[in-house]
Amino acid sequence: MPKNQFDERIAARYDKDSTEMFDPAVLDPAVDFLADLAGSGSALELGIGTGRIALPLSRRGIRVHGIDLSPAMVEKLRAKPGTDDIGVTVGDFATTQVGDTFSLAYLVFNTITNLTTQDEQVMCFANAAAHLEPGGCFVIEVFVPILQRLPPGETVRAFHLSPTRLGFDEYDVATQLLFSHHYRLDGDRVERFSAPFRYVWPAELDLMARLAGMRLRERWSNWARQPFTSDSVCHISVWEKPA
Ligand SMILES: C[S@@+](CC[C@H](N)C(=O)[O-])C[C@H]1O[C@@H](n2cnc3c(N)ncnc32)[C@H](O)[C@@H]1O
Repeated sequence: MPKNQFDERIAARYDKDSTEMFDPAVLDPAVDFLADLAGSGSALELGIGTGRIALPLSRRGIRVHGIDLSPAMVEKLRAKPGTDDIGVTVGDFATTQVGDTFSLAYLVFNTITNLTTQDEQVMCFANAAAHLEPGGCFVIEVFVPILQRLPPGETVRAFHLSPTRLGFDEYDVATQLLFSHHYRLDGDRVERFSAPFRYVWPAELDLMARLAGMRLRERWSNWARQPFTSDSVCHISVWEKPA
């Protein structure tokens, strides 16, 4: 079972720390995109968290079920009004079965990289496919690894620099792991948090989808369906289970 990185401390400030991801300009295109794919069916969110996506999707009348490893994140979801219709199973989304099938499964906000081995990521695709009806789709939103911007011999890139927060990603290209180091300054106190991620290439994800019996249907650089190019920093990929 992977380590639960989203403990009470992280869950307590998740929504506040992710404010920009709750901005309607960011959220609405994602929910539109996912609602279109779910159609008149239902949706399974892998890593449902505090319901950032699941809640607005459910408000559109789509039945949503989620899997999450973190009881603390699920507790934050449950504290929000309107979540009674959302089912949640606490467990690892690489292996946990919820006993139902869906027209859509999705895994957003780079969460595939929380699985830190290739085996776990492969299992996650197999698990998503096992929950899909024929013709159903699996959607992932994840960053493109930034190795083009990492000069030879260097291993660290800053991802956040402000007077009260510092963030650095430390790359290990041999193991395809990156460690995100967060430092939060609160007066004289420094709070530190580090977590490992496995960065993964689009083509590698396509191969994982094939192993799970799915094929790439669409790949975009954002939820507004702009083209995916060699400059894209992120991708939204859709794999389909054959009808
Ligand atoms: C970055 S948050 C994203 C939450 C939500 N999807 C969103 O977009 O706001 C990642 C979530 O995935 C969960 N998670 C990470 N690894 C997991 C795993 N192996 N199995 C189940 N949940 C996992 C975490 O507990 C956390 O709630």
